[in-house]
Amino acid sequence: MKNVLVTGGAGFIGSNFIRYLLRSEKDIKVVNFDALTYAGNLESLSDIAEDPRYLFAQGNICDEAQVNEALHEHQIDTIVHFAAETHVDRSILGPRQFVETNVLGTFTMLEAARTYWLKEKGQPVEDVRFHHVSTDEVFGSLKPGELAWTEETPYAPNSPYAASKASSDHLVRSYGHTFGLPFTITNCSNNYGPYQFPEKLIPVIILNALEGKPLPVYGDGQQVRDWLHVEDHCEAIHLVLSKGKSGSTYNIGGENQPANLTIVETICDILDEIQPKSEHSPHRNLIKFVTDRPGHDRRYDMDTHKISAELGWHPRHTLKEGLLDTVQWYLSHPDWVSSIRQKQEYQGWMDANYKSR
Ligand code: NAD
Ligand code: TYD
Repeated sequence: MKNVLVTGGAGFIGSNFIRYLLRSEKDIKVVNFDALTYAGNLESLSDIAEDPRYLFAQGNICDEAQVNEALHEHQIDTIVHFAAETHVDRSILGPRQFVETNVLGTFTMLEAARTYWLKEKGQPVEDVRFHHVSTDEVFGSLKPGELAWTEETPYAPNSPYAASKASSDHLVRSYGHTFGLPFTITNCSNNYGPYQFPEKLIPVIILNALEGKPLPVYGDGQQVRDWLHVEDHCEAIHLVLSKGKSGSTYNIGGENQPANLTIVETICDILDEIQPKSEHSPHRNLIKFVTDRPGHDRRYDMDTHKISAELGWHPRHTLKEGLLDTVQWYLSHPDWVSSIRQKQEYQGWMDANYKSR
């Protein structure tokens, strides 16, 4: 791992991962390849922008010429592929972009990697790696009492987002099987932590609560996700890149499975505690049950035995500590928050998603 191309490095997990990688590896060059869609934000990397080991190359994963140029110019040996459309609610209101970015974009990345590494350079396969970042949502939804998903569980995606990620996973696997492209895939659960775009559950709740706005809980709020702190996720990806077996997939989960309503209530309680004089306390009074998401998956749960047995990975953050840190991070980064929230695209999305609920 010398010259690493991180796609989607201006997004939530990608920006955290670049920071993690620069902290963990001394002799490395990291190229952040990102189209800067609504979800991309270079301010998330302002603290490392001057690091001589880091550079930003604006580009679209669906654009073959731009991808090829980045691979050649920087002699990339490792691709960590985060770039995607990622919000389930957006995939319900506009699925086409998800197929284009997640399916065709991943295909373009794979084809470029195969051509550059295997056809042109005839590079030894142990020197290169395509790492694909995927989601637990490809497995569908669990009924009460059903066992957690393993790496062997058949895919059963329910939303257009999940289906587009499942398709991209299949393409990655097929490039390994058919062409011998060295790859790894990680399927991880819901992430939370610093720099998450404020349209996802946890930042929406924190920011609305701070302003005394309603806290929208879809349906009965009893849906369960397996919350993973983004730092724990970055550590797991780094381990898979350095020690994971080529051709393998690994599940990553947070070992925290509260219902959505419990997450919202915990954030309210944290705010009551750290802002005792707030005129909005008790923040739980702001909770508002709203119309459910169509096709809303009920429960996710990841079996992470493989990554802990093979690579010794375990999540380090408890949800209580992780949520407290996250609330404090949003409180101490008002400029980052307002630079996103003042954009018309953001306001338009929030209106489109919440006005009719
Ligand atoms: P994000 O939405 O915060 O960021 C996505 C990034 O990709 C943005 O910087 C955006 O500009 C970039 N991008 C989008 N389309 C692009 C294109 N065509 N070309 C180049 N760049 C493009 O996403 P995230 O939450 O950081 O998720 C990163 C990855 O992790 C995704 O592949 C997602 O499916 C996966 N994942 C996320 C979660 C989660 O909870 N956030 C959970 C499981 C898996
Ligand atoms: P989200 O952060 O959108 O992630 P995902 O859909 O990928 O799991 O949502 C997490 C959970 O929170 C999901 O069950 C939907 C729910 N949710 C709400 O109840 N209210 C909201 O305003 C949002 C954005 C999500």
